[in-house]
Amino acid sequence: MADTARINAVVSDIVEGIRAAMFKHNVTYDEYQIAQSFLLDAFAKKDIPLLLTTFFNTTIVKIEGKMMGGSKPSLEGPYFIEDSPLIPQDGELAAREQDQGRMKALLRGRVTDLDGKPLAGATINIWHSTPDGRYSGFHDGIAPHYHRGRIITDADGRYSVRTIMPTPYQIPSDGPTGALLTAMGRHTWRPAHFHYKITALGMHTHISQAYFEGGDYVDDDCCEDVCAEHVVAEKTDDGVRIVEVDFVIPEAVTQALAA
Ligand code: DHB
Ligand code: FE
Repeated sequence: MADTARINAVVSDIVEGIRAAMFKHNVTYDEYQIAQSFLLDAFAKKDIPLLLTTFFNTTIVKIEGKMMGGSKPSLEGPYFIEDSPLIPQDGELAAREQDQGRMKALLRGRVTDLDGKPLAGATINIWHSTPDGRYSGFHDGIAPHYHRGRIITDADGRYSVRTIMPTPYQIPSDGPTGALLTAMGRHTWRPAHFHYKITALGMHTHISQAYFEGGDYVDDDCCEDVCAEHVVAEKTDDGVRIVEVDFVIPEAVTQALAA
């Protein structure tokens, strides 16, 4: 629904913010034209989604977390797939033959509502990259059932599933977004992470990521998504990395946020 006052307020403030940065740095007409060419190039190469993800998706996620309450959310990233394989409690995500020898991880925890009541029957989608930083269903013809699954929480809201440990991931670096990060002296790496997407009847869809204490790029994520609450402490049991993550999920808001 169009809301003239809101559109005016938000767009005016964005424009003011950009103007303030231009004044602060005495941006030249040449630089202004380079910026224009950059945006045209990013559009032509279909790199706008990556550009927005890199710089602003985490901001939207932080705003949503502040409005909704519950566990802090994360960015979803471009590699979620609906209807991934259903994995039983204590089951294991499929791994390719060549990935079988990798370090294993046990992902477990509990899903509750804001009052601490367990959410039984919630669906937790978990997905992550291959050890060489590729996502099944998107890259290199890797079949989409690898490194992905859905698990249903038990009567106590608990989940437990095994998989292999992911490694750091490089966002596409050969396009305009990668070139911009390089020009800024930044890199295009994200720390190793697991993705989670949790849906439960009547509840807000919760999207999160888990990162690993001490891992490469944890303090320097190119997408700036890492927050302290999402960094899982170093813990292993018999050589298996224990990734304990609880989720507190607010009820779905129907109109208020959407309006
Ligand atoms: C991107 C990829 C990811 O795996 C992720 O978690 C976030 C962002 C990306 O390529 O933009
Ligand atoms: Fe990812």
